[in-house]
Amino acid sequence: MMIPNLPSSRRMKRVMSLFLILGLALLFKPLGAQTPEAEKNFQQCRACHNLEGPKLIGPTLSGVNERRAQDWLIRFIRNSQEVIQSGDPIAVKVYEENNKIPMPPHNLTDEQIIDILKYIKSGGKVDPQYAAAEPSADQKAAEDLALKIAAEQEAREEKLADIERDANRNFGTTFIITIIILLVVLIDLFVTRVIKAKFVHSTLILVALFIIGEIIYKESAAVGRQQYYQPDQPVWFSHKVHAGQNQIDCKYCHTAADYSKSAGIPSVNVCMNCHNLVREGKVTGTEEIAKIHKAWESGEPIQWVRVHNLPDHVFFSHAQHVKSGKLDCAECHGEVETMNQIIQVNDLSMGWCLQCHRKTEVQFADNKFFMAYEKMHEKFSNGEVKKVTADMLGGADCMKCHY
Ligand code: HEC
Ligand code: HEC
Ligand code: HEC
Ligand code: HEC
Ligand code: HEC
Ligand code: HEC
Repeated sequence: MMIPNLPSSRRMKRVMSLFLILGLALLFKPLGAQTPEAEKNFQQCRACHNLEGPKLIGPTLSGVNERRAQDWLIRFIRNSQEVIQSGDPIAVKVYEENNKIPMPPHNLTDEQIIDILKYIKSGGKVDPQYAAAEPSADQKAAEDLALKIAAEQEAREEKLADIERDANRNFGTTFIITIIILLVVLIDLFVTRVIKAKFVHSTLILVALFIIGEIIYKESAAVGRQQYYQPDQPVWFSHKVHAGQNQIDCKYCHTAADYSKSAGIPSVNVCMNCHNLVREGKVTGTEEIAKIHKAWESGEPIQWVRVHNLPDHVFFSHAQHVKSGKLDCAECHGEVETMNQIIQVNDLSMGWCLQCHRKTEVQFADNKFFMAYEKMHEKFSNGEVKKVTADMLGGADCMKCHY
C-alpha cells in the first residue's frame, strides 16, 4: 500500500528548478562592478568569504591586497593546495590558521583574478560605468529562458496536483472495495459457506484489516496537513506587490510576530493607511482596492482564508521563534515577497519542527529568554557545552509542543 510521495518529489523539482533559474540569473546578472566580470566571478567566493565583516569559512578579504603580494594571490587563488604543498610558509600559515580547510581550486586566468582583486580592493563598489548599462541581449535571452522554465514548471506542478487528487480518490476507492471484500468474506464464513478452506477466510480478513488500518493511520496523520495549500482570498492581496515591489516590512502588517503566539493578520484600518490615497493598482486597476473601501465603509472585516493551520493539540509561538530565536520568516514560510498568492511551502509536520530544533543552534549567551536554564548556563560558561541547539533546551520535549 504505497502512495507516491508527491509532495516531496514536487519539492525536489521546485528546488531544482529554482537552482537552475538562480544559476542562469547569476550567470547573466547585471554586472555593476569594478568590471562586469569581476562581480560575477566573485559570486563563487561569497559562500566562504566576506568582503567586510565576520570571517566565514575563509578569512575576510578586505585588506588582502595589502597583506599579500599579487603574484602570490594569483597562485593561491588558482590552486591553494599546490602552493601549500610547495611549503610556502605564508600559505602553510594561512592554511593552519583556518583549521586546514582546503580552498577549492579555481579555473580563472591571471586577468580574471586581478579583476577580482581590484573588485575586493574597491570594497565591492559599483562602478557607475557599468551600473547603468542596458541589459545585454544574452541577459535578456537568459531571463526569458528562466521565465519560460518557471512557467513550464508551474504547468507541470498543476498536472502533479491533479495526479495527487486522483491518488486520493483512488485511496477512497481502495478503502470501499476492501470493506466490501471484508463483508463478503465474513458473510461466506458464517452464512453462505461457498469456500470450504477456512484459511482462505482468515488470510483475506487479515489482509483486509491490515489495508484498512494502514489507510486510517495515513489519513489521520495527514488530517490538517496541507503542504502547498493555496486558497483563493476574498481580495487579490499580493505579497509580491507589497513586501516585494514596495518593500513594506513584514512586521508593518504582521505586528504581533515579535511578542505574541500569532503573527496576526492586519485589519482594514492598516490597509487604509495607504489605500486612502492609493486607489488603483497596476494589475487589478480599481476593482480590488474598491473592496477595501467597501469593507471600511460597511465596517465588516475582510474574511481572509487561513492558510497555515496547526492542529489544536500543538502549541507554536511566533515570539519564541522570531524574537528569541531570531529566525527569518522565510525559514518557515519561504520567499513570501515573491508570491502573488500565499502558498504553504512546508508541511508543518512534527518531523519538520523537530528536524530544525535538532540542527538550529540558539543564541544562548546573554539571551534573557534563557535565564531559567541555570544548569545549561553553567555548562556553557565552563566550556563543557560548546553549542546549544533548540532541542537541548526542551525543543524535543513532548509537553513543550503539545497541550
Ligand atoms: C569553499 C570555501 C572557499 C571558497 C569557495 C573560496 N575560498 Fe578562499 N579561502 C578559503 C579558506 C578556507 C581559506 C584559508 C586558506 C586555506 O585554508 O587554504 C581561503 C583563503 C583565501 C585567500 C587568502 C587569504 C589570506 O588572508 O591570505 C584568498 C585571497 C582567497 N581565499 C580568495 C578567494 C577567492 C578570490 C575566491 C573565489 C574565486 C575564493 N577564495 C573562494 C575558502 C574558500
Ligand atoms: C501590507 C500588509 C502586509 C505585509 C507588508 C505583509 N503581509 Fe503577510 N499577509 C497580509 C494579509 C492581508 C494576509 C492575509 C491574506 C493572504 O493570505 O494573502 C497575509 C498573510 C500572510 C501569511 C499567511 C497567513 C495564513 O493564513 O496562514 C503569511 C505566512 C504571511 N502573510 C507572511 C508575510 C511575510 C513573511 C511578509 C514579509 C515578507 C509579509 N507577510 C508581509 C498582509 C501583509
Ligand atoms: C504601506 C502602504 C500599503 C499598505 C499598508 C497596504 N497597501 Fe496595498 N498597495 C500599496 C501600494 C503602493 C500598491 C501598489 C499600487 C500600484 O500597483 O502601483 C498597493 C496595491 C494594492 C492592490 C492592487 C494590486 C495591483 O497591483 O492591482 C490591492 C488589491 C491592495 N494593495 C490591497 C491591500 C490590502 C488588502 C491591504 C491591507 C491588508 C493593503 N493593500 C495594505 C500600498 C499599501
Ligand atoms: C519557526 C517557523 C516560523 C517562523 C520563523 C515564522 N512563522 Fe509564521 N507560522 C508558522 C506556523 C507553524 C504557523 C501556523 C501556526 C498555527 O496554526 O498555530 C504560522 C502562521 C503564520 C501566520 C498566520 C496565522 C497567525 O496569525 O499566526 C502568519 C500571518 C505568519 N505565520 C506570519 C509570519 C511572519 C510575518 C513571520 C516573520 C516575522 C513568521 N510568520 C515567522 C511558522 C513560522
Ligand atoms: C526553522 C527552524 C524551526 C522550526 C521549523 C521550528 N522551530 Fe521551534 N524553535 C526553533 C528555535 C531556534 C528555538 C529556540 C528559540 C529561542 O532561541 O528561544 C525553538 C523553540 C521552540 C519552542 C520552545 C522550546 C523551549 O525550550 O521552551 C517550542 C515550543 C517550539 N520551538 C515549537 C515548535 C513547533 C511546534 C514547530 C513546528 C510547528 C517548530 N517549533 C518549528 C526553531 C524552529
Ligand atoms: C517541536 C514540537 C513537537 C514536539 C517536541 C513533539 N511534537 Fe508531536 N506533533 C507536533 C506537530 C506540529 C504535530 C502535528 C503534525 C501533523 O499535523 O502532521 C504533532 C503531532 C503529534 C501526534 C499526532 C499524530 C501525528 O503524526 O500527527 C502525536 C501522537 C504526537 N505528536 C506525539 C508526540 C510525542 C509523544 C512527543 C514527545 C516524544 C511529541 N509529539 C513531541 C510537534 C511536536
